[in-house]
Amino acid sequence: MTTRKHLIAGNWKMNGTQASTTEFFNSLNPADFCTQSADYLICPPATCLHTAQDAISGQKLPIATGSQTMDYHESGAYTGELSTDMILETGATHAIIGHSERRQYYNETDDTVSQKVEAAINAGLIPIACVGETLDERDAGQADTIVTTQTQHALSRVPKGTCPSKLVIAYEPVWAIGTGKTCDSAEANRVCGVIRATVARLLGDDVANGVRILYGGSVKPGNAAELFGLPDIDGGLIGGASLKATDYTDIAKATAGLTQTACSV
Ligand code: 13P
Repeated sequence: MTTRKHLIAGNWKMNGTQASTTEFFNSLNPADFCTQSADYLICPPATCLHTAQDAISGQKLPIATGSQTMDYHESGAYTGELSTDMILETGATHAIIGHSERRQYYNETDDTVSQKVEAAINAGLIPIACVGETLDERDAGQADTIVTTQTQHALSRVPKGTCPSKLVIAYEPVWAIGTGKTCDSAEANRVCGVIRATVARLLGDDVANGVRILYGGSVKPGNAAELFGLPDIDGGLIGGASLKATDYTDIAKATAGLTQTACSV
């Protein structure tokens, strides 16, 4: 049991139309989402952020929205990119930054991650900074070094007095994403502890104790409670299973009651 409220975040990646977004939220029941026990977030494609907000308001769901990436420049000649203001204007509160797919396919680097985390916090958008090792790095015994280095970069421009609620970190081992291979829960908790210790060294114990560190990688209704019940895992960043309203609901229900402020749904 932890005192940090869980965050149950869905990353839809490049999936979803405006019609399917509306259908997803319309099929959720607000009574299934215990707000004493967790916060809830869905990150749809940017084109569906407004649609998601409208459906969430219509259904009175306690679910926030976030973007899947962002640019750190305020505005200008950056074709295809979204600024923090553009994202905030949709009603979104969070931005995923440095997802391994962005690092792998779109040249996201530790340096751009650090600039984006800084820009998000300055704009009042909560960054979800993603870190995680590849299978080769894990096999070479480098998992801790990789996540520590990525965390150090991600936080390198975050001021010391930052309120921990303004920041989220997600541990997503690359080999567990979309593969059905979940990281062993004890190991995922241990690595989240390594990340928390890194936060403590950089930003102090108060931030480290308050910041939410999520696990991501093949989270499903069947393994969410075990993962999120561990002390250093404060919820999840969920890909495939967040696309199905029933699975997302089942994960929310399975994890209600894991924090001290629990309620049962
Ligand atoms: P899956 O849950 O589909 O493995 O994806 C995890 C992820 O990348 C979330 O950001």
